[in-house]
This record gives sequence, structure tokens and C-alpha cells, in this order.
Amino acid sequence: MTAAEILCVVGARPNFMKIAPIIDAMRGHVALSPVLLHTGQHYDEAMKDAFFRQLGIPEPDVDLEVGSGSHAVQTAQIMQRFEPVLERVGPRAVLVVGDVNSTIACGLVASKKQVPLIHVEAGLRSYDRTMPEEINRVLTDQISDLLFTTERGAERNLLREGIDAGRIHFVGNVMIDALLKHVEKAVPAPSVLQRHGHAAVEDYAVLTLHRPANVDDPGVLAGLLKALVEVSHRLPVVFPCHPRTAAMIETHGLRSVISDGRMTLLPPLGYLEMVGLVSTARLVLTDSGGLQEETTALGVPCVTLRENTERPITVTEGTNTVVGRDADRILQCVEDILETGGKRGRVPELWDGKAATRIVDVLARRLAEIAA
Ligand code: UD1
Repeated sequence: MTAAEILCVVGARPNFMKIAPIIDAMRGHVALSPVLLHTGQHYDEAMKDAFFRQLGIPEPDVDLEVGSGSHAVQTAQIMQRFEPVLERVGPRAVLVVGDVNSTIACGLVASKKQVPLIHVEAGLRSYDRTMPEEINRVLTDQISDLLFTTERGAERNLLREGIDAGRIHFVGNVMIDALLKHVEKAVPAPSVLQRHGHAAVEDYAVLTLHRPANVDDPGVLAGLLKALVEVSHRLPVVFPCHPRTAAMIETHGLRSVISDGRMTLLPPLGYLEMVGLVSTARLVLTDSGGLQEETTALGVPCVTLRENTERPITVTEGTNTVVGRDADRILQCVEDILETGGKRGRVPELWDGKAATRIVDVLARRLAEIAA
């Protein structure tokens, strides 16, 4: 029997820690053979190469090298460049993860070519259609043949949208597979700070910000930064800054806002640096999706700077509190955490480091059944 080739797609930073355990598990399975394609959505050392190296992801077999652009340009270019590759490789199925532009772009091409489409991390919903990722999630799920979910609520969302129950498999969270595998090897927080020329701090909060809704409008970003500077007067804040946010801070002269506080600005960090920093933080302030889950798995209190979350289990079972952008609410939540230690939470069902193994087992079994 020859192993079925599965074309595995990655594009952006939050995809890399999801694909790493899946590639590993496929390589250990006789029936499956991964072919790795990178769209090039994220392409530089900080946003891509450091992650490939630290997570042990092999060099991509194909790199579409699309780079940055508007959503329309980026999505269109990925589609245009992906189609001939799909024809040339002729895989048994295409596997996409998460909710970035690369996910929907490659998903659309595969589905129109009638190549079975597999979506890992299906069914998450913020019910906020102003988020580009929500559009990507809803559409990718509609065209997927096999949908792997991280929490039980995701299955309910999919059933409500008319997806056949037989296509949905609750397998747990591959991002937590990567986290559990690497947490012991993480770079300790003092070393992370020292590597970037800063003194180590004992007690600190970690901040990340990159959602368009938070950073694209200079007024909104300035308001948030002012609130976070207030937080930093209570507890030093370490802020690894996404390129999109760094560009906004520079363009709109917002460095002066930050310099009023005890805030340490860092460039985007590698995976092992970020895990090290987060795992010993007193709390995390973020608008990221992945960090809401990683903090829940690590038992670190998380303050989500958004009005909603597509990952409600991190609130109902984990350590997450969704506070939005209001300065008083942010400060109150931080104050509560400093006083009480914050939500302790529990690790959600099947976030046990074995999700990728479950995925490849199901995949090997189901490939024979789903239409080619
Ligand atoms: C994308 C995802 C988002 C994810 C985030 C994680 C979509 C719709 N959004 O948003 O869900 O949470 O990645 O980072 O797919 N840039 C670099 N180096 C790179 C890549 C990008 O400097 O390697 C800069 C470019 O200036 C670019 C900006 O970052 O314009 C934004 O990149 P882009 O891919 O457009 O989206 P993200 O905001 O990163």
C-alpha cells in the first residue's frame, strides 16, 4: 500500500504550532505522507523562520511566496499560485488549520477542484462578522469534508450551520500538543529579556496586540495603550510587538504614550521565547486567539482585550476573562487578578497532547470513505 499524500497548508504564525504536531504524527503513520506547503503570508525570520526551526518543522516542499497585501490581494494571489501546485502534486486531500487568509484561500481552491478538504480547529465562532478570521472560519467549515474540533461547543456551532454530524470529529487541541511538547525547553523569561538588552523582572504581565479592531485606528490604539500604561504602574508589562502594531505605533507617534509606563517593548518573539515568557507571567493581556488557549493550558490568568471570543471554553473552564477595550474594566480585572491570583481554571477535555494522533487515526480511517 502506498501512503496517501496529504497536502498540509500553513501561511501565518499561528498556523506553525498547529501543523508541527500533525506533520510529526503523519510521519509516524504508515498510511499517510505529508507534503508541506507554505503560502508565504508570513515570511520573515521573526514571524516564520524562528518557528520552523524551534518547532522542528521541515522546510516546506512548496513555498508560494505571496507576502503581505490587502486581504483581497493576499487571498487572490494565494489562490492563483495554489491551483497549479494542487494540480501538479495531486494529493489525496488538502489539510488546512485555523482561520487565516491562507486557510480559506487554499480551502476554496481545493474544494472547487473536488479534492477532499480537511479543517483542523473547525467550528469556533465569535459571531462577530467584522473579524476577518470569522469570515474565514465560517466559509472554510462550509466547504470542508472533514472537520476536527477543539471543544464540544464547536460541534454545536457546526450542526447549527447545517454541517453533517458525520463529518465532525472532536479530537482536542493540536496547539496544546505543541505547547506540552515544548514547554520544558522554553527559554526562561529572564533570558528572554536579557537577550533583548533589558533587565530581568520578577513579576510581570505579558501583553500582545494585533487585531485590526484594536490597532488599525490610531485613536483606539492610543486609548488601549494608555490603559495598559496604567496597568504597568501596578505591574511591569512586557510587550512583544507584532509588526502591524509596531508600524502603527511608529507612524502615529505613540511611543511617547508607552514611555510613560513600565512597559518593555520587544520585537516579535520566537516560539520558545514566547512560551517561556508566558508560562511564568503573573497574567497575560491579549487580543490573540491562541494565547487565550495557551494560558488556559498553562494555568496563567488571561485578560482578553476584545468584546468577544470564539474560544468560550477558555472562559467557562479556563483562566480567561473577556473584558473588551474599556480602560476601567481592564484595570479592574487586573486588580482582581493581583488580589486573588485570578481564575485557576482547569484544562479542557482532550487538551492532553494527543490531538494530532487522534487526527491522523481518524484521517487514515475516513480517507477511504470521503469522496475523492
Ligand atoms: C494574520 C492573521 C491573524 C493572525 C495573525 C498572527 C489573517 C486574516 N490574519 O494577521 O488571524 O492572528 O496573522 O500574526 O490571515 N509582516 C511582517 N513579517 C511577516 C509577515 C507580516 O513584518 O513575516 C507585517 C507586514 O507589514 C504585514 C503585517 O505584518 O502588512 C500584517 O500581516 P498579515 O499577514 O497581513 O496579517 P496579520 O495582521 O499578521
